[in-house]
This record gives sequence, C-alpha cells and structure tokens, in this order.
Amino acid sequence: MNAPRTKDRFASTRVREATPSPTLAVSDKARQLKARGIDVVELGGGYPDFITPEHVRRAASDAMNAGDTHYVGGSGTPAFRKAIAEKLGRDNGITVDPDSGVFVTPGGKFSLFLAAQAFVEHGVDVMVLEPAWVSYVPIIELSGGRAVHVGLDPDTNFVITRDILEAHLTPDTRIIMLNSPNNPTGRVMTRAEIDAVATFAVDHDLMVWTDEMYEKIIYDAATHHSIATVPGLADRTLTFNGLSKAYAMTGWRLGYVAGAPEFISQMAKINSHAITCATSFAQAGGAAALTGPQAFVGEMVTAWDRRRRYVTTELNRVKGLRTTLVEGAFYAFVDAREIDSDSVRLADRILDEVHVGVVPGVAFGAAGEGHLRLSFATSDEALKKAVDRIQSLFGTR
Ligand SMILES: Cc1ncc(COP(=O)(O)O)c(C=O)c1O
Repeated sequence: MNAPRTKDRFASTRVREATPSPTLAVSDKARQLKARGIDVVELGGGYPDFITPEHVRRAASDAMNAGDTHYVGGSGTPAFRKAIAEKLGRDNGITVDPDSGVFVTPGGKFSLFLAAQAFVEHGVDVMVLEPAWVSYVPIIELSGGRAVHVGLDPDTNFVITRDILEAHLTPDTRIIMLNSPNNPTGRVMTRAEIDAVATFAVDHDLMVWTDEMYEKIIYDAATHHSIATVPGLADRTLTFNGLSKAYAMTGWRLGYVAGAPEFISQMAKINSHAITCATSFAQAGGAAALTGPQAFVGEMVTAWDRRRRYVTTELNRVKGLRTTLVEGAFYAFVDAREIDSDSVRLADRILDEVHVGVVPGVAFGAAGEGHLRLSFATSDEALKKAVDRIQSLFGTR
C-alpha cells in the first residue's frame, strides 16, 4: 500500500521550508498550559502591556463614525503620510517627501515583507546581524534570497565592527539589515557603529535597511541615530518603523517605510496586488498618535525602565545567569550558558518546571544560543512572580 499522502504536498517548497515564528511558538505552548488551568507567567511576547492612549482611540472611532470606511490611497492617507514625514524630520533628521517617500503598511512587519518582495530574489544575499529579530531571515528566504548570518559576539556585548562585516561579505551581497534598538539584545548602535556600517555600505554599493521600531524605547544616556541621515546614505536606505511599540498599537497594524521615491514605487506595485491599503480609520488614529501629546510614551518608558532595573538586578542574583542593563527595547537578554548552553532545552525546562514562558536565544540565530529573552513589558506583579520562580529553580548567589 502507498504511504498516506498528506495535504502538505500541495504547499510550495518555499513555504514548506519556512518555519513559523518561534516567539509565537512559545506563546502557543504557554497558552496550552494555561488552558489546562496552569498558572503560567508569559514573558515570551513582544508587545506593550498598555492600551493605546484615549485620544488615539477616539480619533479612529470618530473617523469611522464619520464614514471613513472606504479604501484609501495605497501609500496611506495624506494626513498620516504628512504626520510620518514630519515625525521623521523632527525626531530623526530625515527629510522625505510625504507623497512619494513614505509608504504606510498594515504593521511594520509587512513593510519589511514588501521590501523583500521588491528587492530580494534568488541570487541576492542579505546580511543579517545576529542575534536578530526572528522574522528577518524567513522574510528574506520567502522572497527567494539568502540570509547571510553575521554572528555578533556576546562576549563583546554584540559590537559591530567593519572587520566583522567584511568577513561576511559575499559576491552576491546587496543589502544589509540593521535593527537598533535591537530586539532581542537591547543594544543601541553607537555613532561609531553607524558610521562603520555606512562606509561599508557605500564602499560595497549596498542598500541599507534599518528597522527602528524601538527608537522611542531607550534608557539612560543612549541616543538613537538614524543611518539615513549619514551623508550619502539617504539614497540607499530604507527606514522601517511603526506604531505598535511606541504607542501601544500592536493590534492596529500600522507601520511604514520611508526612502527614495524610486524604492517606494517598486513596493507600491506589489502592495496594490497584495492588500490595497492599510485600514482607513486606523490611519486617522495613527496620525493622532504622531501629532498629539507624547507624554504617554514617556510614561510607558518610565514604567519599563523601573522593571528593567528590577529584572536585571534580580536575574543577576540567580546562580548561572548573567545579564546587562539593556539600553533599549523591553527585553532582558540573559546569558544562561553556565546553566545550559542549549537554550531551547532550558526554555522548555523553565516553562515545564516553574511555568514561566521565555524565548530561547537560538530563535534569534546561532549567535543567540545560550541566552534567553524575557520581556519586561508586563505588570510588576507578573514580573516578580516570574523572577521568584526562576530564582527558586536555580537558586541565588
Ligand atoms: C524588531 C522588530 N521589528 C518589527 C516588528 C514588527 O512590528 P509590527 O508589525 O507590529 O509593526 C517587531 C515586532 O515584534 C520587532 O520586534
């Protein structure tokens, strides 16, 4: 008898070879335990524990009630694009034309997906500095390209140098992907690192993709620099950002990409056949978020700063764990190599034995192996419970 044929045989090779997001896989497992009545503390997610500010919600509901319920232009509403261009000028020093240099997408993730569809194909290599956010590599591979894994060293606090970049350059390298503040490491690229990448990109004629999703979430003296402002870089850079993290708007699905009109128009073609436009009335909320009072962002960052200090101090007391005070984003990236160099096994053990959901570092590339990512964008109570449980599992020093 023939072996049973699964329905998988209809899936494209491209998709069969893709793996679902590992961070979502952790949440799924935690959800299953919760469904069995187990008290799980979930630190695996990557979203603010606040709800969108009231004036932003009101702007969207007003727009919807006023009849803003139709398709809008593929690149976004004029008001939202204007707000984005002004924000890029004000906060980042980036000059873009709101009509031709800004493109609104349903979430920042989709703007990256769109760029990959537009600029990546078989024969194109994209350098990904790792540890890196879990979706860059699949997004590149789903477009037929190859991700070149540039492993940064945890023992140098993941510093980026020209030598490391040169060592990974291939004849097919056309794009370099940056993410600062970084998910998962919390590193904010220094001015020297930005300049090193910029000259490397110019010398080898590369496009630069910079994901600045966490730019508002930075602590102490760290300063965010946008690489598009380095002289000579504007014409080879795509700047990706979104409203999910800074304005607690993950469910709204609003992101954007900014860059040269010639780049944006290529992405626009694909968008017109993929999603037409981002949600009309959500964009009214997006415009209100960027143009309205910004105090809310500071309040969230103050709360995360307090939790960042707490979690760093307490995890450093755990036998076998080491972590630094991160400069940006809302994750602790904990070195657990002394306990177990296999981060998947360790994350599973923590979930199974003390019911705390964390993400294994290897999900962010081989350079993340031996580490665990814990989100501190959660309540003080949940964080304390998680820390207590981890301390009881491994003991304190
Ligand atoms: C580094 C990074 N980039 C992009 C995104 C995508 O965010 P969104 O699609 O919600 O805008 C995330 C979300 O976790 C992220 O961590």
